[in-house]
Amino acid sequence: MLKGVILAGGLGTRLYPSTKNISKHLLQVGNEPMVFHSIKQLTFSGIKDILIVTNPAHIDDFKDVVGTGSQLCCKISYQIQQDAKGIAHALALAEDFAKRERIVVLLGDNIFESTIQTYIDDYNKQKHGARVVVKKVIDPERYGVANIKENKIISIEEKPENPHSSYAVIGLYFYDSEVFDIIRTIKPSSRGELEITSVNNVYIKQGKLEYSFLQGEWVDAGTHESLAIAHEMLLNRKE
Ligand code: G1P
Repeated sequence: MLKGVILAGGLGTRLYPSTKNISKHLLQVGNEPMVFHSIKQLTFSGIKDILIVTNPAHIDDFKDVVGTGSQLCCKISYQIQQDAKGIAHALALAEDFAKRERIVVLLGDNIFESTIQTYIDDYNKQKHGARVVVKKVIDPERYGVANIKENKIISIEEKPENPHSSYAVIGLYFYDSEVFDIIRTIKPSSRGELEITSVNNVYIKQGKLEYSFLQGEWVDAGTHESLAIAHEMLLNRKE
């Protein structure tokens, strides 16, 4: 059984001043705090053992709002990311939690119209390696962008000025236990962060990265505009 990791750190600077004293992931989206969306995506797919990684300023708020997870029928553990040094840096903190089991990783600000069950099923059928999910977008320069040739991802570029394609790699990743060794080998990017894209590129070099196409709408709710779109999407969603 996969274990779930929700990365809910970062400073949320694109939403300042709204996120100066509250985590972006606790802002309301639809009719609940944003992080409930990620938790429910996992629990509806049968994943009940979940780690939330957040920063020192917000950990107590998470514990107040989410608690042990019992109200959401799951078990929540926490890890603190002391400095905002990137997604892969946050993921490294999940090593003890994962205990060499395979994991599904959700970026806490990624909101999905539909269930993620299909991609979980895809990964459960995959024997080894990692899996990403891609979606055609009109603004690929905001994301990790997959360069796909002959149905294979041959590279991923993080927020390229001149994207090779329109396929964004969204914030839903699947990893085997090798991921933690891989994170130890990668170097910070020019913005000083350990990028999840660097991790995925190692899997590509090893020939161990597979992918799925995302069906349905999805929003990275990191900006005021996209947060509003995510809010509308969840309010209008038919359960
Ligand atoms: C992160 C990743 C990027 C990915 C995106 C999905 O970017 O670095 O590769 O495409 O999430 O939401 P961020 O939005 O944290 O800058």
